[in-house]
Amino acid sequence: MGPASASSNSMAACRDLGLLKDLFNLASTRLHRVLIEQRDFADCIRRWDSRGTFFYLDPPYVGVRGHKGVYESLTQERHIELAGLLRRVRGKWLLTLNDCHFVRTLYRGCKQLPVFVTSTLPRCSIARRRELLIGDF
Ligand SMILES: C[S@@+](CC[C@H](N)C(=O)[O-])C[C@H]1O[C@@H](n2cnc3c(N)ncnc32)[C@H](O)[C@@H]1O
Repeated sequence: MGPASASSNSMAACRDLGLLKDLFNLASTRLHRVLIEQRDFADCIRRWDSRGTFFYLDPPYVGVRGHKGVYESLTQERHIELAGLLRRVRGKWLLTLNDCHFVRTLYRGCKQLPVFVTSTLPRCSIARRRELLIGDF
């Protein structure tokens, strides 16, 4: 690498660092007073439920294996547990899941809105698929 390219690389790195600093500032403003926890959904729901709580849940799809090395799938029994917990919470909640018979039956009586979503993940085989927005409000 010659001196000219080293210097242009350093300038690009400075620009990138400046951008990085801006991004950190934006993220830190947005995340001010945000608490990030790594807990099982059952612990989280029990811990944070109140009349003023809003839960947004985006669990692993029913009947789909999790992302290998990233997260595990949820068994049907755990989806049943989640639905039972949500039906009893005092707060409000919104859940997104794949649109299938099991999910529609599990959340019968709750508001269900089918939507099409387009995946932007490179590894996703289904680019456009149906999801259900499910909620209690
Ligand atoms: C479909 S992804 C949601 C991704 C997230 N909405 C995002 O944009 O990054 C499912 C998520 O559920 C989490 N998850 C899996 N099992 C869980 C459990 N038992 N309790 C809480 N979260 C769980 C996974 O770690 C994963 O982040």
